[in-house]
Amino acid sequence: MRTFENMQEWVAFRKTLEGSVGFVPTMGALHAGHGSLLQRSVEENDVTVLSIYVNPTQFNDPKDLANYPDTLDADLELAQKIGVDYVIMPGYAELYADNYRYQITESEFSRELCGQNRPGHFTGVLTVVMKLLNLVHANRAYFGKKDYQQFQLVKDMALTFFLDVEIVGCATIREKDGLAMSSRNKLLDARSRRLAGQLNCLLRSHRSDAEVIEQLQALGLTVDYVITRERRRFAAVVVECAEKTVRLIDNVGLQKA
Ligand code: PAF
Repeated sequence: MRTFENMQEWVAFRKTLEGSVGFVPTMGALHAGHGSLLQRSVEENDVTVLSIYVNPTQFNDPKDLANYPDTLDADLELAQKIGVDYVIMPGYAELYADNYRYQITESEFSRELCGQNRPGHFTGVLTVVMKLLNLVHANRAYFGKKDYQQFQLVKDMALTFFLDVEIVGCATIREKDGLAMSSRNKLLDARSRRLAGQLNCLLRSHRSDAEVIEQLQALGLTVDYVITRERRRFAAVVVECAEKTVRLIDNVGLQKA
């Protein structure tokens, strides 16, 4: 496995690669969910590229950015074990040489769900994903459906801008109690981890959105939203833990009653 921190070097090297390329963009702090995306890319492509870049433009809360877990050594070990070929780790100066003057903004769906209370979040995500896709020139790029809204927006952006890449959505990987795997789970202490486990359970229940909100609040969680649309229930909550606030999201398909 070879790592690239200099993107000029990477771009020159990319031109020498042959065969199909699969790409998994991440912000590091890899978990089994990322592992499943990487595994799938390794199975479906000749070459797999992983990016690790904690993208500041998608964090609307500086504390969230400061607390974002950093587990680089373990990430590289996992990537190597799975069979990743190349890891790109750009720096801000190179990725944002324009100082973020150029941005990709979607003006409807990005303002709903997670976009309601995270102004600029999806502009940051779409902008960095566009830059990374242009650096990697992948045939397929893999995104987890835990971030369902992100997956839909990236897929739609690829269509809108005629990007020559297949955006592949992959199933959410869960802990035994149903908690969706997330890098932010690493920040939870034992008490808040137990509470977080209730989220998926309540989303799957036959309760109404309003009842689910009430139950989550009764558990001491701050609810950003619980919304059902097109037989899928989406939620974001904030868990307080050891002077930190940890934001968790999830979504589940609902069965017909
Ligand atoms: O899902 C993530 O980890 C990030 O939003 C992504 C797609 C790597 C962009 O920074």
